[in-house]
Amino acid sequence: MPKFIYNSATTLDGYIADADDSLDWLFAVPEEGGEDMSGFMHAMGVLVEGSTTYEWVLRQERLLEEPAKWQGFYGDRPTYVFTTRELPVPDGADVRFVSGEVSAALNVLRAAAGDRDVWVVGGGELAGQFFDAGALDRVILSVAPATLGAGAPLLPRRIGPDRLELVDVTRFGQFARLTYDVRT
Ligand SMILES: NC(=O)c1ccc[n+]([C@@H]2O[C@H](COP(=O)([O-])OP(=O)(O)OC[C@H]3O[C@@H](n4cnc5c(N)ncnc54)[C@H](OP(=O)(O)O)[C@@H]3O)[C@@H](O)[C@H]2O)c1
Repeated sequence: MPKFIYNSATTLDGYIADADDSLDWLFAVPEEGGEDMSGFMHAMGVLVEGSTTYEWVLRQERLLEEPAKWQGFYGDRPTYVFTTRELPVPDGADVRFVSGEVSAALNVLRAAAGDRDVWVVGGGELAGQFFDAGALDRVILSVAPATLGAGAPLLPRRIGPDRLELVDVTRFGQFARLTYDVRT
């Protein structure tokens, strides 16, 4: 059964983007010794994200103007975008739109992932919706040496230590990577 894994960079005070949806605080961290995401990506059969995250990636990487880059980032994996709107898709990219209850999309996501896992890219509220649906299995955080004071929250839910078990701690350059399993 595919696992649903929320893997995100975060500030020390629990934000994944500033109030203007900027990740400047993340890109300011020295890259030396940083994490290689290729192993993680290899284990993912599907990506799922909210529309703000999707539109940010399109803008940041100019993917509508340079659609060939999509394949380089994601290969043939489908990306499911939760939205109530019609959004553009880079030429040739496998982007599928969904809306409504997360629980209604779980079987489709599991089938698309096959024998690999599902990367819940974010944002935090969408990851919270997966938690609410009982479908968040793991949280992997790369904690950057920065605070923001405000912004897009990492996981805006109340989740106690009875539900989260720290299973791994690793250092990558200036990042602490924390891995938690979500207990039922
Ligand atoms: N630090 C990191 O590693 C990291 C990781 C991921 C994201 N980010 C950044 O963090 C920010 C995330 O922002 P966010 O949390 O506000 O947004 P988000 O989850 O990316 O997108 C939220 C939007 O998705 C749509 N949506 C969410 N749930 C839905 C549902 N069940 N059905 C239909 N549509 C649904 C809604 O928009 P519409 O219906 O209007 O389309 C909603 O406003 C972005 O700036 C992103 O770039 C950072």
